[in-house]
Amino acid sequence: MSSRINVRWPMDLDGPRESLEAKQPEIDNGLDVVHPSRYTSREFMEREWQHLWPRAWLLAGVVSDIPEPGDYFTYEHGHESFIVVRQQDMGIKAFYNVCPHRGNRIAHAEFSNAESFTCSFHGWNFATDGELRDITEENTFNPKLIAHRPGLNEVRCDLAAGLIFINMDPKAPELADAIGLPPGYLENYQIEKMHVVHHVRSEWRANWKTGIDAFYETYHLPYVHPQTQTVMEDYSQIDLYPNGAHRMIVPFGTKAHAIADDESVDDGLRGMMIDAGIEPEGFPQRASEVRGVIQAAKRERAERLGLDHYDKFTDGQLIDSWTTGVFPNVQLGMHPEGVFIMRFMPHPTDPERFFYDNMILFRYVDDPDYTVPAWMGLPEGTDVTGTVRPEITHVPVDVRPELGEVLNQDIDLVPVVQKGMRSRGFRGPLWSELEGRLRHYHKELDRYLGE
Ligand code: FES
Ligand SMILES: [Fe+2]
Repeated sequence: MSSRINVRWPMDLDGPRESLEAKQPEIDNGLDVVHPSRYTSREFMEREWQHLWPRAWLLAGVVSDIPEPGDYFTYEHGHESFIVVRQQDMGIKAFYNVCPHRGNRIAHAEFSNAESFTCSFHGWNFATDGELRDITEENTFNPKLIAHRPGLNEVRCDLAAGLIFINMDPKAPELADAIGLPPGYLENYQIEKMHVVHHVRSEWRANWKTGIDAFYETYHLPYVHPQTQTVMEDYSQIDLYPNGAHRMIVPFGTKAHAIADDESVDDGLRGMMIDAGIEPEGFPQRASEVRGVIQAAKRERAERLGLDHYDKFTDGQLIDSWTTGVFPNVQLGMHPEGVFIMRFMPHPTDPERFFYDNMILFRYVDDPDYTVPAWMGLPEGTDVTGTVRPEITHVPVDVRPELGEVLNQDIDLVPVVQKGMRSRGFRGPLWSELEGRLRHYHKELDRYLGE
């Protein structure tokens, strides 16, 4: 069995025509060079706060984090904070995390359960559906001032494939129309059956777009992450979708095109086969056969374990990373075993800082053969059963979050790029076609900002 991929540029993995893997038609985003001030200036940050963040669907969290009525989490986005809470009827509602009396924050926990919310300033009480229940010493208010029974201020909330999105704009298009990805693209992974097993939020000295730009391309892999060359290809298949969505398919289980020896099976590829539950006697002789062997093993394992949803995955999808961008600030690393969620969250006041939020979701399967792939980079001893929601580990600026070797390399890189973009000598990024996802989402950003 050989499944050597056909490496050429533009990269096309020849996915089945009618499948979600098929190369998408080109979208011409032109060759404009954006002005570097979008990465540095307060004025541009302010425009994002006027025209982007209050109008776009923002990924707030995942449904498996709030399974029971009254379960809630808070989501901080810049200077805003939201409460997302499971209702008695199992629906989900979201509110600005702010008391209508004097503006105090209502909920302080990142994850908790509440029968109702009581403000810690003067004790007003609100039901989990946001309705005002009780005003402390109500007789001291002029009844006209509170005749509208001020409850929590609701924002729109909708679900896509187990992901919870919020939108501050009552007039924004529906999430299903805005997300840009084709039907089934996210749903096939059954994210609602996955659990967050690791969650780290670190603060970086860079604009949120400097951060996301570094994660939206594989062009830098040979230079910043040379160790990836023995297990993955850095020519990725780039696909652009409507509304600023996009993906790159990063071929795994193969050596990069620059590696002269594409025959010998070394440690990296061996590790991937072990992750797929393959015994050493089943290892092939040639590197070009590794992908096929892993795909077959995963297919067989899924059948044995009754994981029917694997039927919807192409062979390529069983092994490759479908690294997917949802506008404006999300990257989803999609794999059958789990999903990496990265959010690039703006700093409340500083255009040259952002929060890098890294959530690892895993589909737990109670079988000794079904283990967490090593490339997920989970710390030793991580509970992956999904029974306990890990707390968010907050890592302050200038402290390494220790997210594994590859991410540590990005952490060292990004703040330096940010400094460079401030230089008078820098005229704006010259994106290659391998960086086509950057051009695509910046174009969508410009549409929001009315450029
Ligand atoms: S600010 Fe909430 S009760 Fe006064
Ligand atoms: Fe990187």
